[in-house]
Amino acid sequence: MRILCVCLGNICRSPMAQGALERRLAEAGVDAQVDSAGTGAYHIGNPPDPRGLAAASSRGYDNSAQRARQIRSADFVEFDVLLAMDGSNLENLRRACSADSSCEIRLFDPQGRDIPDPYYGGPADYERALDMIEFAADALTTEISEKRLNP
Ligand code: 4NP
Repeated sequence: MRILCVCLGNICRSPMAQGALERRLAEAGVDAQVDSAGTGAYHIGNPPDPRGLAAASSRGYDNSAQRARQIRSADFVEFDVLLAMDGSNLENLRRACSADSSCEIRLFDPQGRDIPDPYYGGPADYERALDMIEFAADALTTEISEKRLNP
């Protein structure tokens, strides 16, 4: 199963989400490929934000090799599911998705909460975003391993 985590810049939330989900799915024995991308082009080629790297590394994730990229049309074909960090990312993805694409687009949090953008905040906002991401990633992993998430 191929999963794409999507936020705006691909330097804060979606890299953390990729790390958190990858680890949980691997631990659950789910055969999955997880990647991340941004709807915006602002940070293409950049590593994750240092504040996000610090929050992630304090919880045992190593995201330092990730580089930001922008969503491309092939993503809607190559990934089974696109997981948006907030409602704005979700809207942008739905708008960019061609009608014939069969991929599923939904929020990362199965309970439908937005993961707030920490970019204009401080370290505590990154910790809070990662708290929410880990909580959502736990629920997603349960859903996926019980095959409640299509396909
Ligand atoms: P992200 O955070 O979408 O979680 O990666 C942001 C990063 C950069 C910007 C906005 C949000 N920006 O406007 O540059």
